[in-house]
Amino acid sequence: MTDFAKTKSMFYLPDGVIYLDGNSLGPLPLAAKDRIYAMMQDEWGEMLITGWNKADWMGLSTQIGDRVARLIGAEPGHVIMGDTLSIKVYQALASALELNPGRKVVLSDNGNFPTDRYMAQGLIKSLSAGHELRVVNPEEVEKNITDEVAVVMLTEVDYRTGRKHDMKALTKKAHDQGALCIWDLAHSAGAIEVDLQGAGADFAVGCSYKYLNGGPGAPAFIYVAPKHAKTARPALSGWLGHEAPFAFDLDYRPHTGIERMRVGTPPVIALKALESALDIWDMVDMAELRIKSIKLCDLFIREVEARCPNLTLASPRNGAERGSQVSFRFDEGYAAMRALIARGVIGDFRSPDIMRFGFTPLYINGRDVIRAAEILENVDKNQLWDKPEYKLKSRVT
Ligand SMILES: Cc1ncc(COP(=O)(O)O)c(C=O)c1O
Repeated sequence: MTDFAKTKSMFYLPDGVIYLDGNSLGPLPLAAKDRIYAMMQDEWGEMLITGWNKADWMGLSTQIGDRVARLIGAEPGHVIMGDTLSIKVYQALASALELNPGRKVVLSDNGNFPTDRYMAQGLIKSLSAGHELRVVNPEEVEKNITDEVAVVMLTEVDYRTGRKHDMKALTKKAHDQGALCIWDLAHSAGAIEVDLQGAGADFAVGCSYKYLNGGPGAPAFIYVAPKHAKTARPALSGWLGHEAPFAFDLDYRPHTGIERMRVGTPPVIALKALESALDIWDMVDMAELRIKSIKLCDLFIREVEARCPNLTLASPRNGAERGSQVSFRFDEGYAAMRALIARGVIGDFRSPDIMRFGFTPLYINGRDVIRAAEILENVDKNQLWDKPEYKLKSRVT
């Protein structure tokens, strides 16, 4: 059994704060500070450039990729860390389009995160080969997977509402229609059980700074299914994705496996921070986490609906159709979130009116949920949000 009291004790959570924003940026694993300090001193400091071999810095991207693979149901050896999620989206889409050369449509939905759509638009423009990005409502994805579609590219869990796509069913439909499927797991990895292998996903991408708790700007990951491992051509043919980078050949030749999705030098310090988070993840059973996460989200919905008449649930009521976040619509949501944060309950806001709360059993328990709902009730009932300073938009919401 996963010991969630123990996992909670392994994070730094500031006094008086109930942290419901792990769906945006996970908190600091206590061990990360020492690990990074030790890396700085013993590896970067003492070893200097020899650290690439002596401390195997170059091996971190695949070693950590394998640890993330367990959390997303991927085969070992098919996940690699590096770059940002936007870059990984571009790589996955470019490779997938090449694997389906006869077709021109990329199908996505308007619940997909903007960067995914923007990267698709940029790639399509660069390719100048007549591709089209077709964006439909989330509920209409299934019926729009036709034999015109080259690639279905979706974020499994909607960043605004937490609504979850049926990965297995949509991937099957895509394959039946001759399309490939790319899944963005930004709001899935570490949040819910994911079974990439079981679903037959072709590509998946995700970040490690949200539920995985890797820290701000932590590296992204990409998964390439074994069946595409040797044929997916890397569009960003950086030197470290070469089969023999230190041969310094004149021409690019992709690595034979997942390492072809490397681009350039890996972010070693960030990877070390992520390792500390993964030490906690090693103690977690994803099926147990999912059960507990649904309970926490259900409890929050019940408490808020009973206490806050001005807020309307924006997330699916049925836990099986949700990720690990709960969102409420409220016209004054931005100011209300600022008022909440000022009172120690940290969530976030997504335009135009979504108050978003992420729940993870790793460091949130039932008491935190009830306390957060009480504070939200106070903000709502007494209109504590109605202050000019709460209405001023910050650069990052
Ligand atoms: C679903 C999704 N995809 C992509 C991104 C952005 O990726 P990055 O800024 O790491 O490139 C986010 C950021 O929140 C996201 O939620």
